[in-house]
Amino acid sequence: MPAASMESGTEIIKADGVTKRFGAMTAVDRVHYSLHENEVAGIIGSNGAGKTTLFNLLTGYYPPDEGTILYRGKDVTRAKPEDRVAMGMTRTFQLTSTFDNLSVSDNLVLAFFRAHRKSSLLHLLLNTCKRQRSQDRVVAALETFGLQPVRDRQVRHLGLGEKRRLEIAMAVLAEPEVLLLDEPLAGLSESEIRGVLDVLGGRVGKQTILIVEHKISHVKDFVQRLTVMHEGRIIADGGYEECLRHPEVRRSYWQIDAAAEGDVHAAG
Ligand SMILES: Nc1ncnc2c1ncn2[C@@H]1O[C@H](COP(=O)(O)OP(=O)(O)OP(=O)(O)O)[C@@H](O)[C@H]1O
Ligand SMILES: [Mg+2]
Repeated sequence: MPAASMESGTEIIKADGVTKRFGAMTAVDRVHYSLHENEVAGIIGSNGAGKTTLFNLLTGYYPPDEGTILYRGKDVTRAKPEDRVAMGMTRTFQLTSTFDNLSVSDNLVLAFFRAHRKSSLLHLLLNTCKRQRSQDRVVAALETFGLQPVRDRQVRHLGLGEKRRLEIAMAVLAEPEVLLLDEPLAGLSESEIRGVLDVLGGRVGKQTILIVEHKISHVKDFVQRLTVMHEGRIIADGGYEECLRHPEVRRSYWQIDAAAEGDVHAAG
């Protein structure tokens, strides 16, 4: 899908010339990056390219040394984490940690309550309408994320792929404006990866998603726009094919012989 078609959507996140240094090392180097409403975008790059650091800047984990970050046009560059929470940002950006001694469905119920705590828990318990809605949402999440068969299982007995699907389900139950995922496929087997990609694929068009991944093969069927990072900079941005052909991507990112095998590993 051409990147141009995405440009018309509302700009949700905009990073303008952001730089982050760790001592002498420039982890993110004057990066410009935008994410539009309902866009499904991926960032790839070799080890140490700066993907996680950029991700942390966008989510407010730390402020950039230079540059600005806008959230729906508002400057959040220096916003403290609690200010971001008040704006509805932080909770939208992080995978929720699970309660490993509770069941899958209990975790989903808690995720829903936590996300809708504007009305107090007591209020929710007393409000039949809201309670019904939470139950409906949890049942829908169990279905959507393929968790129905393990709904009563304690989280600590889940496989890694099931746990990852639960984490994403919990994040989605919070009704985030943006789902930001840093290597959600790390450590999973090929079949578990397919399961997670299936549930993420089901969100396309309904949700703004930014997914950071090491391997391009994991995201190529899924993202509408790809951004390639190398040594702290964005070296290509656009459609998958376009990025694939980009001379600097070929030079800096691919290992050409690995590319020929079809499953391309990042250099480095
Ligand atoms: N907290 C930190 N303190 C010091 N250096 C850091 C810190 N975080 C990242 N770096 C350095 O910044 C560079 C970019 O790291 P980053 O984690 O952003 O890369 P990445 O693209 O996410 O890599 P990977 O694919 O391995 O996850 C690396 O050289 C890393 O060593
Ligand atoms: Mg990383």
